[in-house]
Amino acid sequence: MLDIIRSLPEQLIGASRLEIPDITRAGYRRVLVGGMGGSAIGGDVARDVFRDVEFSIETIRDYHLPPYALPGETLFIAVSYSGNTEETLSLFEQALERGVDTVAITSGGRLAEISRQKGIPLITIPGGYPPRGALGWIFGALSMVMGGAGLLEGVEELLNETGRFLTDIAEEIEGEESLSMDFASKFYRRLPILYAPSDMLSVALRWQAQINENAKQMAHVNVLPEMNHNEINGIKHPPEVMRRSWVVFFRDMDTHPRILKRMEITRSLIEEDVLGIDEVESRGGSRMERIFYLIWLGDFVSYYLAVYNREDPLAIPRISHLKEALGREG
Ligand code: F6R
Repeated sequence: MLDIIRSLPEQLIGASRLEIPDITRAGYRRVLVGGMGGSAIGGDVARDVFRDVEFSIETIRDYHLPPYALPGETLFIAVSYSGNTEETLSLFEQALERGVDTVAITSGGRLAEISRQKGIPLITIPGGYPPRGALGWIFGALSMVMGGAGLLEGVEELLNETGRFLTDIAEEIEGEESLSMDFASKFYRRLPILYAPSDMLSVALRWQAQINENAKQMAHVNVLPEMNHNEINGIKHPPEVMRRSWVVFFRDMDTHPRILKRMEITRSLIEEDVLGIDEVESRGGSRMERIFYLIWLGDFVSYYLAVYNREDPLAIPRISHLKEALGREG
């Protein structure tokens, strides 16, 4: 898993060279990304990286395609790394039935098969990774598709720059003295509570999912400003849990000044009730670099935490059993 995590910069650079088939350029108003787990997070990251575009990017993690997925207005992108996730296949079929312009991103499986049969634009990304370990390919392919649809410009360059930036900081982000190791030691035997500004929710969700899947540990996520209107009151009970929790606030140079102020006040209001609080600031030039810096940091945290917890970061027995059991029942 460590080598897979290390390969993120190469994946982003590799994705910038993907062959993108012809995609209709219809001036879409919305991009809906249909996927689950490690495939879906690519859509969330795209929403946060491309925060300031004039179309919406939304991830659908469900069986049901919402009625506002309308032909002409919507580009639907089905993402399933394995190509066999039933929720994603269900969305894909509904999009095709409804006549919504659709693109598929996968390494194979049913999604590739159906796309080939029906002549749906298909981007095949390399196989052999656990889906969560292929985020560079998934996010990169999604960005390239949006570029191919005429919605984004300069995607190849951004992916390359981000890959190069991460390669440059690769030595500092891991190892005994790194920030990632520091977070892993703070999270060990504790409950990580991860707070992001709303426009960086993907970072907190990625940390959470990686901690869940790699380290087999619970983590909690919320966003500011919303948590200031409810959850802030709850950081008290049960004290046995709260006093064993470690809070992290994510921040970025684009974070709204009032959100930064809110973080400062929130911190002072909860510090007696939790074990520790940290803030982590993004690094890098473009928003893509800054978001990927935080994501990569969290990936290493989850790996070291798996080592602390004596868990195999690659194994996901419950997810596999669940899929098998559902498959048996038809
Ligand atoms: C496994 C993982 C899972 C899968 C999810 C959907 O590494 O991260 O969250 O991503 O079960 O499967 P795919 O991505 O194959 O559609």
